Parts: sequence; C-alpha cells; structure tokens
Amino acid sequence: MDLIPAPSSAVRRPDGDFPLDAATTLTAPPALADAERWLRTTLSAATGLPFGPGRPGAGIELVQDEALAAEAYRITVRPGRALLAAGGPAGALWGAQTLRQLLGPDAYRRSPLRREGWVLPGADIEDAPRFGWRGALLDVARHFLPKSDVLRFVDLLAAHKLNVLHLHLTDDQGWRVEIKRYPGLTERGAWRERSMVGYRSGGRRDDRPHGGYYTQDDLREIVGYAAARGVTVVPEIDLPGHTQAAICAYPELGNTDVVDTAALGVWTDWGVSHNVLNASEETLRFFEGVLEEVLELFPSEFVHLGGDECPKEQWKDSAAAQARIRELGLANEDELQSHLIRHFDRWLAERGRRLIGWDEILEGGLAPGAAVSSWRGFGGGIAAAKAGHDVVMCPEQHVYFDHRQADGPDEPIPVGFVRTLEDVYRFEPVPAQLDGTEARHVIGTQANLWSEFTDSARDIDYRAFPRLVAFAEVAWSALPAEPAERDFAGFERRLATHLKALDALGVEYRPADGPLPWQRWPGVAGRPIEGPPPVR
Ligand code: ACM
Repeated sequence: MDLIPAPSSAVRRPDGDFPLDAATTLTAPPALADAERWLRTTLSAATGLPFGPGRPGAGIELVQDEALAAEAYRITVRPGRALLAAGGPAGALWGAQTLRQLLGPDAYRRSPLRREGWVLPGADIEDAPRFGWRGALLDVARHFLPKSDVLRFVDLLAAHKLNVLHLHLTDDQGWRVEIKRYPGLTERGAWRERSMVGYRSGGRRDDRPHGGYYTQDDLREIVGYAAARGVTVVPEIDLPGHTQAAICAYPELGNTDVVDTAALGVWTDWGVSHNVLNASEETLRFFEGVLEEVLELFPSEFVHLGGDECPKEQWKDSAAAQARIRELGLANEDELQSHLIRHFDRWLAERGRRLIGWDEILEGGLAPGAAVSSWRGFGGGIAAAKAGHDVVMCPEQHVYFDHRQADGPDEPIPVGFVRTLEDVYRFEPVPAQLDGTEARHVIGTQANLWSEFTDSARDIDYRAFPRLVAFAEVAWSALPAEPAERDFAGFERRLATHLKALDALGVEYRPADGPLPWQRWPGVAGRPIEGPPPVR
C-alpha cells in the first residue's frame, strides 16, 4: 500500500477490495464535517465520482471513537464498505489523507484522468502520531511567498500529516503582516529596494524591489484553510533582534542615541543586522499593540516571539539602554533581552497563550511556561527539557532545509551542511541525554525553510521535497527499537510510489540524481560548510 508516513500497523486484506462507483456514498457525523468536506471535494475532483451523502453503515463512513486519541484513527476496508473511526476531527482528517493515498497517485489530481477502476484496497490500518507538534517553518520575510503558494504549502503539509505551519512573518528584510494601528509596518516595512543574490561573498545583487504582505483577511483565510485541514498556524513576530524592517518604519523603536534610525531602510543584505529594538516602555507598548492584533488573527496556543541572534553592541553603546539596565536592576545586556522576553511571556500567559522562542531565550533565564525551538543544535533543547520546558527540536545541523541536499557544484546556491534525504530520514528528535520524563517535554520537531536563497514556490519545492516526506515519517511514525534500524531502503521503495503522487500534485522536488538544468543557479555563490555536522 506504500503508505507514507508509515502507519502504526497496516494489514492488507486482498479479499476486502472495495471498488468505488457513482453510487458510493460518504457519511460523517457533524463533528467530523471538515474531514467529510475535504474528502468529498478532493476525491470527487480526482475521480469524477460524486460521493453523495448516504446512510450510516454503508459506503465510506467516518465515525468518532472516543476510545482513540484525538489524532488517532483506524481504517477498515471491505467490499462495499470503508469505515474510518477517529478519536476526533484531527484523526478523521489524517485518516482521510490515508484513504486518498490508498487510491494511488492519480487520486492527487484535481480533475479525473479516468472515471473507472477506482478501488480502495482491502485493509486494516491503525495509526496515531508519535509527536503532537509536526512542523515546518516558512520564512516569508526574506522572500515573500504569495498567499496562493502558502495555501498550496498547507495542502502539502496536510498530505504528509504535518500539523504546524510556523510562519516567520517579520525580519530585518521585510514585515509581512498587516497591523491596522501601525500601517507603516507594511507601507514602509514590507518592501526593500533590492536583494542580495546568493551569499554575501559572491557580491551579487539584483536591482529589483522585493516585497509583499498578507492583509489581515489573507491571514484569516490562511488560518481557517489550514485549520480545516488539521494544520495550526503559529505566527512568529521576531524580537528584539531581526527588527530592522520595523525600525525603518518607526525609527523611535531603535536605539536612536546610537544610530540615526530615521535614515535606515529595510535591509537589503542577508545576515544578522545590528539594528535592534530599544528596551523602552514605549517599545513594549508598541509590540503589545502589534500582538493584540496578532492574537486576534491567530488562535494558536503558541505565539513565537523569536528571540534569536540579537547583537548587543547597540545596547552596550546606548546611554538609554544602560540607564534602563540600571533602572531595572539588571546585570547586563543579556538580562535586558531576558527582561523583554519575560515581559511578553507574562503578557501572553495573561491572555491564555504560551510563548515559544528560539533557544537564545534560555540565556538570562527563561520564564516558566515558555517553550523553546532548539535550533543551534540539541543543547538548548536538552537544557530546556531538563528544566521542565517544552521543546520543539529543529537543529540547524539536521533539519534546516535551506541547507544543500548533496555535495557538488550543481546544487542551487549551496549553503550549510550536506543533509541528504537519508540523513533526514535518520534524524532522531529525542536526544539520548534525556530520561523518560524529560523526553516527554520534546513535544515535537520541525523542519525550517529559511528563504534567503529561495524566491519562489518552485525553489521551495526543490529544497523541501522529497526531504519533507522523510521528515514527516520521522515526526509521525513510531520509532523502531533502535534509531539505526530505520529502514531507509523500505522508505525509498514506498517513496517511489509517493513521488508519483507529488508529480500529480505538481511538486517540483529534487530528483534523486540531481537538479534539472532549470533547478540550478549557475554562478551564484553559496556558503557550503564542509564535513559532517557537529554532534551537539
Ligand atoms: C535561526 O535560524 N536564527 C533561528
């Protein structure tokens, strides 16, 4: 049946095949209406069959089974009957994805190639995810991704039973979320005059303005579309570093006693800008205003406030920052950053939400209840889990999908470590240093797609796929007794079928034998890091 991600158990029942035809019905209780709607819309488009409403006990039927966990499901296919029992709406959506997969690659098309020969293979399947947070980050700040491409990416996440879309909405190079009370953030901060092409060392730039942003209605649409597919959108407003686009729009947010922030533009370089927020009460109020609107748009429990890569030079040079440090009784600039993060941690908690941030937020002391995205390796995540904080493991050495997929000159703008499909398949999110209780704080894992070197959905497809397929299995499927026992050859065999589904979906993944000519980027400098990634 070639299912990816591999289910907990799947038994083929050759005498149970269920041929579908125009009379095949689809039924579900109101609680599972999202899965019913998705299944009817998707399967009708692909097969040309109507899947009209039927009665319980016949055709394809979705039912709720309280004995199952919310994301778990069970599928039984017999002649004339396919029963999908789910613990809740999410489990029903994942089971619905499996039903599509069982119909084969043609079921991923949006108009039928044939109207006959559709057969659900007889089977007994039981399934539930290993992790509750199975995420992917889209960096829509460095290069804006049009809304239609974000919606398409949501469909791709859901097709792989990934359930978190982390949207990196703000950075030095662009501000991408409309905030009504601060229109300058998008009027001024959502575009830059030009972009660096490839890595800094190559010295190449285009001379084309780049920009774009999502209106609040766009984001409501994205959030709702994702929710109806089982995907939660977690917004990231990165602070206090990675804020040059905001400072350029509202110069009073920066360290005005050190730099002429009124002269700043949205950054046209890649890297880490030294222009960071000041730590005044006014700046806290400004971002509370931003976050009030963000909370209204994004119902997710977690709100990501970044906290990574905040250079402290300006705070060291700023009399205002130094006075603030004294006034608050803090020891140094690291504690000033920690003060900011703790402020927003409390502020979010008072509104029933939880802060998540990059592992730098551990420095200077982490507020209780906050969670950590462990990106600089496993170390931050290990420390956080041992201190009782929840962790999403996304170490750059393993699951940064902007990093190159192979050695050699043909990879487009090759940066970072070589992370092959097999490397990703063998990635283990829970480090051996954690005992059972601590390991339960690893609530999941995430692949991050930073976009300095991808300026279109085609480029994202190339870097994301097929590695995201392997990652989905890491995040969803039960761990074999020994991580080393992960059966990569078996995965590759199933992947051969799944690539046909990706072809049907129009995903421009990296072919196993290297990029197609139009997937290369000749002459544009990357920054490959030689050798295997350090074990951290
Ligand atoms: C990061 O990659 N700076 C989180």
